[in-house]
Parts: sequence; C-alpha cells; structure tokens
Amino acid sequence: MKKLMAANWKMYKVRAEASATAADLAARLDGKLPEDREVLVIPPFTALWAVGEAFAGKPGLSLGGQDFYPAKEGAFTGEIAPAMLLDAGCRYVLTGHSERRHVLGEDDAFVGQKTAFGLAAGLSVILCVGEKVEERKAGQVEAVVTRQLAAGLSEIPTDVLPEKLAIAYEPVWAIGTGLTAGPKEVEEAHAMIRAWLIGRFGPQNGALVRILYGGSVKPGNAGTLLGIDNVDGVLVGGASLEAESFSAIVTA
Ligand code: 13P
Repeated sequence: MKKLMAANWKMYKVRAEASATAADLAARLDGKLPEDREVLVIPPFTALWAVGEAFAGKPGLSLGGQDFYPAKEGAFTGEIAPAMLLDAGCRYVLTGHSERRHVLGEDDAFVGQKTAFGLAAGLSVILCVGEKVEERKAGQVEAVVTRQLAAGLSEIPTDVLPEKLAIAYEPVWAIGTGLTAGPKEVEEAHAMIRAWLIGRFGPQNGALVRILYGGSVKPGNAGTLLGIDNVDGVLVGGASLEAESFSAIVTA
C-alpha cells in the first residue's frame, strides 16, 4: 500500500499560479518520488485542467477534486458533478472536509450521501473526519469520529474496494493553526479508526483502507507523523501551496 501524499489547495491559486506550482512540483519530484509514495494534488476547480496538463505523463502524480454535488447532472446552479471531475482527469475527491462541515454547513447525512455517490460514480473518495477542540476537551474524540465514520460510510457496500476509499483524520483544532496533534494523539486516533474500519469491512479490507493525517503538516513534522502506526499518508493545506515545502513533505 503506497502512502498517499495529498495537497489540498483549498481556495488558493488562479490558473497561472496553479500551473507554475504543479510544474515546479513535477520537476522537483522527477526521479525522486519514493517507490512507496503517491502524490495527489487537489486544486480549485478552475485549475484542474492546468494541473492535469502539468502532470501529464508523470507517473505517481494524481489529480483530485475538493467537492461535488451528489447528482448525475441537473439544475444545481454552482455545483459540479462527479462526471465533470472525472472528465477533468480527477481520480480522487474529498468528502466531509472540516471547512465544508463547519463553514458551509454540511451535515453527517449529506456527507454520507456524497461519499456513496462519489464512489458509485467511479471516484476514489477521501472521507475527512475529526473533532473540534471543545469535543477533545470533553473526552468525545472517539464518539465524534466514530459517529462521522458511521454516517459517512452508512450507504456504501461492505465489499467496496479498499483502495477506492481513504479516511483523513483532521482534528479541527489543528487545521491552519500551526498546532499539530502529538504523536500519541495521532497514534490513538488512527488506531481507533483502524479498529472501526476492521469492524465495518472485515480484517482484510479494513486493514487496507488508507488513513491519512491532516492538520498543520509541515516539512519538519512529516517524517515523524509518517512513522506512526496506521498513518498511511498526509493531507496538507498551507504547506502544500509551495512546491518547495510540499516536495520536502513528499520525500520526508
Ligand atoms: P493545514 O495543513 O493548512 O492545517 O490544512 C489541513 C487541511 O485542512 C487539509 O485538508
């Protein structure tokens, strides 16, 4: 199982900036991408084609979408369909990102509907989960994360291919704050998620679903995080915007 090194560019970069960063990243990783790692860049929709062009013919570099609406097509002004992401070259898509839950108001049920729809449409889905600071202080990490997993995966078949699904554990208090969960907190949360996945998908497939860590991942902490049990990759925001820092994370 390759470690998935994912860059979530959020609402940053117009096309020329995205194109330049993607080309710079591809050049830095040319011949240097470790065998056991896979790179995923998740740019804003308007830059998907440009990043796809910069990655064309480069093995190990994939493209993903940040969001979609769970319908094939239709009168959904402002939304984007899975087929449009696939058409733009995406293999992956995010669901349940903290900013979609807490800024844009998506609830557990809608996240579950989207996760199932995205998988059925042929995308690999990265379901994001994670507790808020007040939930951690109240000792509710397991309750919150397992609730998000149960709802997020409620509609998908038990025999889903494990390589089509990944979970990103992103504690909300660590996103964009410079605060990273400590190795013990990451290890505990990822072990809890692994146990839940094995309960849901069985020992074989449950062990093969990748669990990424996200929240202030930087070149200086990536190596430590990637060395923790059940950390099968990272989902990086701020430090993925520059090719220099993201390529240092990818090779950490
Ligand atoms: P930061 O790396 O900026 O904390 O963002 C994490 C994140 O939300 C990735 O999806």
